[in-house]
Amino acid sequence: MDYEVKDISLANQGQMNIEVARRNMGALMKVKERFSKEKPLKGLRIGMALHITKETANLVETLIAGGADVAITGCNPLSTQDDVAASMAKDGVKVYGYKGESKEDYYKYVNRIIDFKPNITIDDGCDLVSEIHLKHPELIKDIIGGCEETTTGIIRLKSMMRDGALKYPMVAVNDNKTKHLMDNYYGTGQSTLDGIIRASNILFAGKTLVVLGYGSCGKGCSLRGRGMGANVIVTEVDNFCALQAQMDGFRVMKMEDACKLGDIFITVTGDKNVIRLEHMKQMKEAAIMANSGHFDNEIDMKALEKAASSKRRVRHYFDEYVLDGKVLFVAGEGRLVNLAAAEGHPSEVMSLSFCGQALACEFLVKNKGKLSIDVHQLPEEVDDFIAGLQLEAMGVEIDELTEEQIKYLAGWQEGT
Ligand code: ADE
Repeated sequence: MDYEVKDISLANQGQMNIEVARRNMGALMKVKERFSKEKPLKGLRIGMALHITKETANLVETLIAGGADVAITGCNPLSTQDDVAASMAKDGVKVYGYKGESKEDYYKYVNRIIDFKPNITIDDGCDLVSEIHLKHPELIKDIIGGCEETTTGIIRLKSMMRDGALKYPMVAVNDNKTKHLMDNYYGTGQSTLDGIIRASNILFAGKTLVVLGYGSCGKGCSLRGRGMGANVIVTEVDNFCALQAQMDGFRVMKMEDACKLGDIFITVTGDKNVIRLEHMKQMKEAAIMANSGHFDNEIDMKALEKAASSKRRVRHYFDEYVLDGKVLFVAGEGRLVNLAAAEGHPSEVMSLSFCGQALACEFLVKNKGKLSIDVHQLPEEVDDFIAGLQLEAMGVEIDELTEEQIKYLAGWQEGT
């Protein structure tokens, strides 16, 4: 058996969690059904660096149903669900990772995926692609292409493109409407609050919630924060996103002002050090900080660790720091709070995202050798197809255009 997990005896619980998730992943199950018959991924090795969750396990099963051999490691040291990893290992999947793994183990496991010599890579955050390009370029000749799950990963891929460093075609799964307008928005919105609540059990009603960043993730967190009765403040650096937040009815201001008002802070910017020591020093007693951006550098944890006079873990993934005599809390160690302190996005949204991943693999195989070395989007029809699958899974029917309407939309002559 080729795996490294925390405790193989957790496999039964993991299997039950995977089964419960599957019930809410109807769209992905439709893809799996077709993959089982058509085997579009036959004979291919797919290497993955993705959060090891019950939803990802269902993606892995879908790829295997499609004929692939799969090896998987995590993409964040705190996101692995140990029971799920155990269940996958028991089923014969090459899986490497455990919750709370060290940085050394994290990269050791990324290298197990590299040893597997993948023909397709699936990344969430681009660490696998970076490692291959920087240290194992000999693998690239056998790689058909790669798929990237998240905004941060796409930003890194585009900067690789600009530097002329990218050496194989990539599909930006994140850019599917059925991904970033669903997963980033509804998924992050719900699971981020879920993580903060599981860690702190704080009441959102009546609190001031500061959301740093108003991309799809920030929009989701703000919407759900307001839904739970918080007064939401948004901070932004982009004029249009700030304008959207203002028009959506949130207060928009600079962080230097917001830092004094917030009870809860959520970072979702994709950039580093957006909450700095200078902000922490002005926060209220017992303010809670949490990050839901991909990397753990949005809150300057290093500066906090250095400046704090004490630190202790007071609850599950909830750390109390004393800074200048004042208590501040950090949920999820400043890493993705939704996966560190809760279970990540709910299965329904991951079903949409992972239909994108499965169909992106198929797209790469169908277009093998034909794609330019670039960051590609899946054709719009694929996105539309995924939305249709999900509606079907939810039992929702929609109208169709009449012949007359199709003709009207195609023409330009008919006016006032
Ligand atoms: N990213 C956010 N939530 C996730 C989940 N449940 N599974 C995999 N990746 C995720």
